[in-house]
Amino acid sequence: MPDFQVWASAHQSRFEDSLRRLLPLPEVAPQRLHEAMRYCVLDGGKRVRPLLAFAAGELAEADSARVTIAAAAVELIHAYSLVHDDMPCMDNDVLRRGKPTCHVEYDEATALLVGDSLQSLAFQLLAEHMLNDDPVRQLQMVKMLALASGSRGMAGGQAIDLASVGKQLSIPELEFMHIHKTGALIRASILLGAQCGATLNESQQERLNHFGKCVGLVFQVVDDVLDSEADTATLGKTAGKDAAQDKPTYVTLLGVTAAKKLAAELHCEALDSLAEFDEKARRLRELADFIVLRKY
Ligand code: IPE
Ligand code: IPE
Ligand code: MG
Ligand code: MG
Ligand code: MG
Repeated sequence: MPDFQVWASAHQSRFEDSLRRLLPLPEVAPQRLHEAMRYCVLDGGKRVRPLLAFAAGELAEADSARVTIAAAAVELIHAYSLVHDDMPCMDNDVLRRGKPTCHVEYDEATALLVGDSLQSLAFQLLAEHMLNDDPVRQLQMVKMLALASGSRGMAGGQAIDLASVGKQLSIPELEFMHIHKTGALIRASILLGAQCGATLNESQQERLNHFGKCVGLVFQVVDDVLDSEADTATLGKTAGKDAAQDKPTYVTLLGVTAAKKLAAELHCEALDSLAEFDEKARRLRELADFIVLRKY
């Protein structure tokens, strides 16, 4: 197995154990809500955001137990965003991570509350575990995740996505939407992982931030391409939904060939921004490759 896959699988499986411990147990009341939270978070997903946090943690020589908590906080926000994204009032999807979506398996009210509860739990984790010896740097992490999740981050991007159905967006408008709905949380994963470690100098922080912006945007460009090209079984979610729901995407705006070319350009730009880092940025480079070349 290639070395990157060994690294990724080891982190994914250890991370899964951590999530099992950090989520409320299903026998604790309210049982149905806790069971649904675990259903939506465990046993599924590529865990790209946690892997980015671990990779950035390696760059900053952070303690991996601390990074695990930061990674869990981001993954919980991500899982919440998926639960709400799939609800009938948003994308109305029935399949997620190869399983019935939360509102299908449970009900809409439960899906709403699962999202709410996962979001709260994410911030609880950032508040109750020591993530940096410097409390000011830890407080900055809370702010980073809040900004990336809220109306100036993921939730704001989702609002634009919903308001754009049936509309023709310009390329800058589409980029703005993608950077918010998906890019913000991806970038935050990287910055939060790094924030658990030693302080990077200003130019390093800037380069890491730029890397985060590029991989965050390219992640959604590739998601758009996969929605139009891959099949439901491979994706574990319904393929072809964007076209069916008349959503503006990079594929509808540029066509699939130009969307792939853009992905390749963003990939190069992401790698360029890491050029001055040494071997410690290796996993970040490999994750950029994975994000662009992935098939699901
Ligand atoms: C899907 O994200 C939603 C987007 C932001 C495009 P992922 O492709 O990371 O989904 P999982 O976590 O692997 O299921
Ligand atoms: C979702 O974008 C971004 C989120 C914040 C969840 P999509 O609606 O394209 O994600 P999928 O394709 O359903 O995973
Ligand atoms: Mg959506
Ligand atoms: Mg969706
Ligand atoms: Mg999509």
